[in-house]
Amino acid sequence: MTDTQKILKNEQATEQLARALAVLAQPGDALLLTGPLGAGKSVFARAFLRCFCGDDALEVPSPTYTLVQTYQAPSCTVSHFDLWRLGGPDELEELGWEDARDGVVLVEWPERLEDLTPPEALHIAFTVGADGMRTVHLHGWGDRLDGAVLSASFSG
Ligand SMILES: Nc1ncnc2c1ncn2[C@@H]1O[C@H](COP(=O)(O)OP(=O)(O)O)[C@@H](O)[C@H]1O
Ligand SMILES: [Mg+2]
Repeated sequence: MTDTQKILKNEQATEQLARALAVLAQPGDALLLTGPLGAGKSVFARAFLRCFCGDDALEVPSPTYTLVQTYQAPSCTVSHFDLWRLGGPDELEELGWEDARDGVVLVEWPERLEDLTPPEALHIAFTVGADGMRTVHLHGWGDRLDGAVLSASFSG
């Protein structure tokens, strides 16, 4: 399974990574975003959704309170979950998790998925160093993270 780490020098670098992954994403995919507050999860999500939907001006409201925001992309629906406030796995069903999985799901706070964590998910873990430098660690998707992602440097 593919495992790689990249330095994300600035916000633009995080957006570049998001677009590179949006190009590879297909119906049924799950992308799980972890990392501390301010690490860049929402920056990543906005750039990913705009690219996947083919709309640079797409409004991307935070799903903090609604827990999910769904968009219609050309190829399928794409659902942006923020599970921080999720009560439990039952609530996930009420939010339409099963239907959302037919399209692409982008999940902040995926720890809350517990047993429903998709086994084939791409794990995207952001860390922030003492100097504020963001690093991303990618795990999953095997060969799909081809040259476009593995050998790329996202320099902003
Ligand atoms: N390399 C970077 N990638 C993403 N955001 C960065 C980076 N460097 C600085 N930032 C700043 O950090 C903040 C990240 O915020 P946000 O994406 O909302 O974090 P999270 O959703 O993980 O809490 C933004 O204000 C952004 O401008
Ligand atoms: Mg956020």
